[in-house]
Amino acid sequence: MLRATAILLAAMASASWPAAAVDWTKVPGKNITLFYPAQMSWELILTQGEHSGADKFRGGKNCRECHEGEEEASGKLLVADKKLEHAPIAGKPGSIKATVKAAHDADNLHMRIEFNPGSQPDAGMDKDFATKVAVMFDDGKVAEATRGGCWGACHDDSARMASAGTAETTKYLTRSRVKMARTGGPDIKPADEIQKMHDGGQFLEYWQAKLNPGAAPVFVDGTVLEKRQENASAAVNGTATFENGVWAVEFVRKLNAGVGHKTFAPGQTYTLGFSLHAGHAAKRYHYVSLEKTLVIDQGSGDLIARAN
Ligand code: HEC
Repeated sequence: MLRATAILLAAMASASWPAAAVDWTKVPGKNITLFYPAQMSWELILTQGEHSGADKFRGGKNCRECHEGEEEASGKLLVADKKLEHAPIAGKPGSIKATVKAAHDADNLHMRIEFNPGSQPDAGMDKDFATKVAVMFDDGKVAEATRGGCWGACHDDSARMASAGTAETTKYLTRSRVKMARTGGPDIKPADEIQKMHDGGQFLEYWQAKLNPGAAPVFVDGTVLEKRQENASAAVNGTATFENGVWAVEFVRKLNAGVGHKTFAPGQTYTLGFSLHAGHAAKRYHYVSLEKTLVIDQGSGDLIARAN
């Protein structure tokens, strides 16, 4: 008992120590474009009659293999598409460019994202925060996220999506549902089955920074399995600056943050999806990236986090 208490205190103390600063000028950046996805859900994307990439995606071709380089055009199309966007935000840009970087120190992974939200109309949905940036990731345990990034968690019956009605369903993974249809999957499997999946690491993890110019950033994190579940206390922390319209947000989290978190280690490829709510937007009214990859120290990926 005494021993356990000592370990816990040490963990708490180290969590409050500032992590070693990264010299970001030495870290190569990856340019990505986040685009407005409207109501293009996982179920829609898997339906050949509604998305001509469906059969090839099922056959093994990942989203980025067809769509990388097209994000700006897709966003422009979708932000004003009458069929896929029933409640357009007038004057909203279709995409936002960002530069992402990753590095690590002895204990922590650092991820930096820099972007200019541009001229954003005020959607008035999130009264508290003008801008929110997030990264969601998998460590190979959720195949659909490896293949399709964020879309692996985006369903037709999630809040404000085409089949949602008035339900406030969050993101979820299909494995948590009894069965899936074109309109999503309302019935959740029994709690013991969900727990088993969670124990086996079958969840996505996300980190989010909530931002207002001139105010300290607010960091939250959580997981997605049968629902999006924010952690009571965030393992992620970080910093944010806002200069000349450009946000630079740095996420910092322990490489090993314990049970209920993904662990970062060399030899594993992590799939990342980035999202950005701008102009006081909320829920699905965000920009998202195609699936990107991260490796630690070795191997190939969009981001290689090296010791700094
Ligand atoms: C084999 C190539 C291919 C694959 C793989 C593919 N798509 Fe598509 N996608 C297309 C084509 C072609 C269109 C345009 C015609 C259409 O909508 O059917 C399209 C349209 C879209 C659009 C609408 C915007 C636009 O530019 O037309 C989105 C969003 C989209 N796809 C997302 C995805 C996602 C997410 C995945 C992975 C889960 C994916 N696609 C996989 C070929 C593909």
